[in-house]
Amino acid sequence: MADNPFVYGEIVTDAAFADREIERDRLARDLLAGQKVFLISPRRYGKSSLVRWVLRSLARQGLLTVEVTVAASSSYVGFLEAYARALLVADTPAGRVRQWAAELFSTIRPEIRIDTDVPGPPRIALGFPSIHRERDVARLAGEVFALPGRIAAARKRRLAIALDEFQAVTTFGDDSVEHALRAAVQDQRQVGYVFAGSEPSLMERMLTSRRPFYKAGPVMRLEKIAPDDFAAFLEGRFAATGRRPEPGLGAAIVDLAGNVPYDVQRLAHEMWDDVRAAGRRTATVEDLHTTLTRLLVEQGPMFEDAWQRLTLAQRAVLRAVVLEDGRELLGADVRARHRLSTASSVQSTLGALVRADLIARHGPRRYVVTDSLFREWVARQTY
Ligand SMILES: Nc1ncnc2c1ncn2[C@@H]1O[C@H](COP(=O)(O)OP(=O)(O)OP(=O)(O)O)[C@@H](O)[C@H]1O
Ligand SMILES: [Mg+2]
Repeated sequence: MADNPFVYGEIVTDAAFADREIERDRLARDLLAGQKVFLISPRRYGKSSLVRWVLRSLARQGLLTVEVTVAASSSYVGFLEAYARALLVADTPAGRVRQWAAELFSTIRPEIRIDTDVPGPPRIALGFPSIHRERDVARLAGEVFALPGRIAAARKRRLAIALDEFQAVTTFGDDSVEHALRAAVQDQRQVGYVFAGSEPSLMERMLTSRRPFYKAGPVMRLEKIAPDDFAAFLEGRFAATGRRPEPGLGAAIVDLAGNVPYDVQRLAHEMWDDVRAAGRRTATVEDLHTTLTRLLVEQGPMFEDAWQRLTLAQRAVLRAVVLEDGRELLGADVRARHRLSTASSVQSTLGALVRADLIARHGPRRYVVTDSLFREWVARQTY
């Protein structure tokens, strides 16, 4: 029996990956040409999936590819260790790792542990335990950021490097991190970089004129997938797995999910499961609503918690965002209809909801609820 063709909550490639052809081509071309690309979008639009897909295709073309999630590190040194490790082990057999490290690091030697007592491939850990003082950290950063250039020269190969959740570098201190990285990468002609980040305002600020990454390279702002293409993709996957979709089903899913890729795949995945459990060969819009109702019940306690944590003013503004489709929230009409106070206080409440990641700005004047299920819950369960 066919498996569920829809995937959410993890990076998708291959059959679960829809569209994005223009973005894939462009990112691949830029990385191949050694560009330093900034990739920006709100959360869960598909940056990591796009990057993974492109790196895989570049690896097939012979590039050495490296992927590191900056936000996974709890400190600057931790990040440098994770990055150095990823560079060191890329395409390096475990037996060669120590010698390769000796060739690669010129001034600061890492401590390397190779654990072969685990099932699967040996586990390789790398650390710089002697680095503490700020001056030493800066020196270490210089060394680590220079590695890709050295690797490219030593192996006579091009590299493509992805630093995901890149906005997290701003948590490591002032912009000296960005300075060090920018200074190193700009000379590395054989190395393409993609700096992907999911907090558009932070990422955009990194690109402004007084910051190190100003004009460092092309900027890609990942938009939503075209709704018609996404709808066609969904219906195609339903049909290919033996559940004939009712006409309009794809569009209904995309619409209900606010066309956020994660939400679209979640709804499709859950619905596909329900249709299979019912042993049905067709998938209808009515099924979609049955699944939606189930999900709202399941997630109810979590949404209730989130709701309880809000102030009354925040609840009122959030409801207005939902019921007014995020438009004209500062206008006198909307404020009167929802008994909101002054425009300036609504404005600051909107800011608080954005910081709490419950809503996001959509264009200059519109707001959307980040989680489409929460939006539906607010619409149905609150007053
Ligand atoms: N091209 C795509 N086609 C179909 N589904 C996609 C696509 N890109 C992303 N998705 C869906 O969105 C989910 C989130 O994707 P991904 O993790 O790549 O986004 P992201 O922008 O990196 O998110 P975050 O900002 O949270 O890191 C995936 O698990 C998948 O369900
Ligand atoms: Mg991501």
